[in-house]
Amino acid sequence: MNIKSINSTDEGLEIFWSDNNVSCFPWVWLRDHSESEEDLHPDSKQRQIDSFSVPLNNTVNKVLLDEASENVIVKWEDESESCLSFDLLKSMSEPSLPHSNALKSASIWNAPIEIKFFPKMTYEEVMTDDGIKTWLMHIQRTGFVLVNDSPATPEATKELMERIAYIRNSIFGGFSVWDNKLESPDDTAFTSLAIEPHTDGTYVHDAPGLQTLHCIKRDSIGGENQLIDGLAIAEKMRKEFPEAFDILCNINIPGRYIKPDTYLEAHRPLFRVNNKGEVLQVSFNNHDRAPFRLENNEMVRFYDAYGIFHNLANQTNRQFEFCLEPGTILTFDNWRLLHARSALTGYRQLCGGYHNREDFESRLRAL
Ligand SMILES: [Fe+2]
Repeated sequence: MNIKSINSTDEGLEIFWSDNNVSCFPWVWLRDHSESEEDLHPDSKQRQIDSFSVPLNNTVNKVLLDEASENVIVKWEDESESCLSFDLLKSMSEPSLPHSNALKSASIWNAPIEIKFFPKMTYEEVMTDDGIKTWLMHIQRTGFVLVNDSPATPEATKELMERIAYIRNSIFGGFSVWDNKLESPDDTAFTSLAIEPHTDGTYVHDAPGLQTLHCIKRDSIGGENQLIDGLAIAEKMRKEFPEAFDILCNINIPGRYIKPDTYLEAHRPLFRVNNKGEVLQVSFNNHDRAPFRLENNEMVRFYDAYGIFHNLANQTNRQFEFCLEPGTILTFDNWRLLHARSALTGYRQLCGGYHNREDFESRLRAL
């Protein structure tokens, strides 16, 4: 889409596009979005122009279309100039509310058989420059990735995690090594008990974006891991149970984590959606759900909706089941996938940690 012509009006600058659409940008908007070096810092891309503390004279003297540099130049009556690139104007041609990026729904899977490109690669591959890109793309497309032939050590696992971004700190520490023989475990994750499908961190305002797990020692029976695509359940419910979907988009569910001297609590709907109704985040942990009470009819409707999600997540045919083995590093999108674990007997030692969601998105944008 190119600019065919421009026209100055009282309301703003009209731009006639090659696809025959017309945009009208208000003068104040053009001045505020100027990309000239004085108005927008060339390196940091931070706004320098102060559109508010000093009244600016937004009376236009002249507007030029600079085809060579692909910029629109606005000369103002006060002799200052604004410069806006064709690219910025193109990307802003339609007014719309800012919206967060939705989870990519292109490759949702309702059963492991629906996973078209199985997301696995070797440790050697992921440690190359191109490898990181493939690793990120697997997570974006399918929600998880398995890295095989990894050295079964905490150091190698940490090194892989730090290739992506710094490791997030939490009440469990940053990068951690743990086993199922702790004397006083402060979470079921550190025991041999079964854990239902869930996402981590329903009790923190900003749930971890990615979770990485590596079983570095294993002398046990059972303990199979299951992954479930929460986004696929969301889309199924949107279609088949619209009322329940709506309830789960709107009712804040409290999650909590309690131990001596710690009481974390956060509230979020099970499906967090953007202003287009697209799902941004799935949050579900029935174990960590805190007490809450709605009006009776609403409470009953909530239980029905929550129960539909719970039962879909627990359908075994929906679950990708595997055993975490020394040498295979699992990373998954904790804003999309649910994870679960069967009970085990014997000994396991694991290591891993979290990444923030924005750091994962940042790496994807910068690819
Ligand atoms: Fe977990």
